[in-house]
Amino acid sequence: MITRNGVLSLLAVVSAAISAAPAHAAPDMQALAEKSGCFSCHAMHSKIVGPAFADVAAKYKGDAEAPAKLAQKVREGGKGAWGRIPMPPHPNLKEDEAKALVAWVLSTGS
Ligand code: HEC
Repeated sequence: MITRNGVLSLLAVVSAAISAAPAHAAPDMQALAEKSGCFSCHAMHSKIVGPAFADVAAKYKGDAEAPAKLAQKVREGGKGAWGRIPMPPHPNLKEDEAKALVAWVLSTGS
């Protein structure tokens, strides 16, 4: 179960990211994902090098530990969850950015 506090802190991270964007822009995690190079290996609905983000969302649906675990994996890299190809680390991504991106990825399945 996702705790109420967990949800609130995720919302805080996401809304902080949103409020940093220009006022007219939608909550544009997609732009941050683009800027961070995520789409060289991921797409929303099809597997490229890495799994489709919609598949990631489906896999971790209801997993309260997924946001923190996946944000760490995006920053530090890792392998073994989807196959033999590893995801390289993204050390330039701030922790808040990685968390907001992962929250967005996980929200794409709902
Ligand atoms: C060079 C290719 C590459 C790039 C760039 C990349 N990924 Fe990945 N990603 C992968 C691969 C490959 C996997 C599967 C790893 C595995 O099997 O554990 C993966 C897995 C993931 C997962 C699921 C991890 C798990 O343990 O289930 C998430 C979430 C994710 N990527 C998010 C991102 C985000 C956000 C970015 C941009 C900051 C990004 N990825 C950039 C290749 C990439």
